[in-house]
Amino acid sequence: MKYLVVYYSRTGNNKTIGDAIAQALSADIDVIIDKKKRKGFLNWLRAGRDSIGEKLTEIEFEKDPQDYDTIVIGSPIWAGRLIPPLRTYLNSVNLKGKRVAFYICSQSEGYREIFPQLKAMTHESELVGTFGITEKRFKEGDYNSDLEAFIAHIK
Ligand SMILES: Cc1cc2nc3c(=O)[nH]c(=O)nc-3n(C[C@H](O)[C@H](O)[C@H](O)COP(=O)(O)O)c2cc1C
Repeated sequence: MKYLVVYYSRTGNNKTIGDAIAQALSADIDVIIDKKKRKGFLNWLRAGRDSIGEKLTEIEFEKDPQDYDTIVIGSPIWAGRLIPPLRTYLNSVNLKGKRVAFYICSQSEGYREIFPQLKAMTHESELVGTFGITEKRFKEGDYNSDLEAFIAHIK
């Protein structure tokens, strides 16, 4: 089984989780880079506005999911919504027939509303797991057993 872990992470939370998942699965890693500046207060406001507007953005990534059996995809949420770089990524790649799993680290439990959307957007894929965690639990390091269960499910 060939695994790819792909994530967008603005401030490192979803990167840390994605790197841990990749290590446990001996997976390749791909990073979604948003060409639009997302740092600073004004760009923070724009990021939220772009999410609410269901905007696409310009992204860069390297790996083709077609070369993998299972693709694990991680990102934060912005303004309670799917973020533009992930929306763009899902529009850009073909995941048909692939096993997919999603994880989200966000400030609140808003990820609960995003997983069904992600499932709908990848309805031609086999959803093998979801893992959501709040930033508070992440920062406290209080998630290892849940993360292990998620990884065991994916394997
Ligand atoms: C513009 C913006 C809007 C956000 N809105 C929400 C939100 O509505 N709900 C939430 O739970 N977290 C929200 N967050 C917080 C991020 O989802 C959270 O900090 C996440 O863990 C960041 O992940 P990262 O470090 O991988 O970028 C927002 C963050 C940004 C930058």
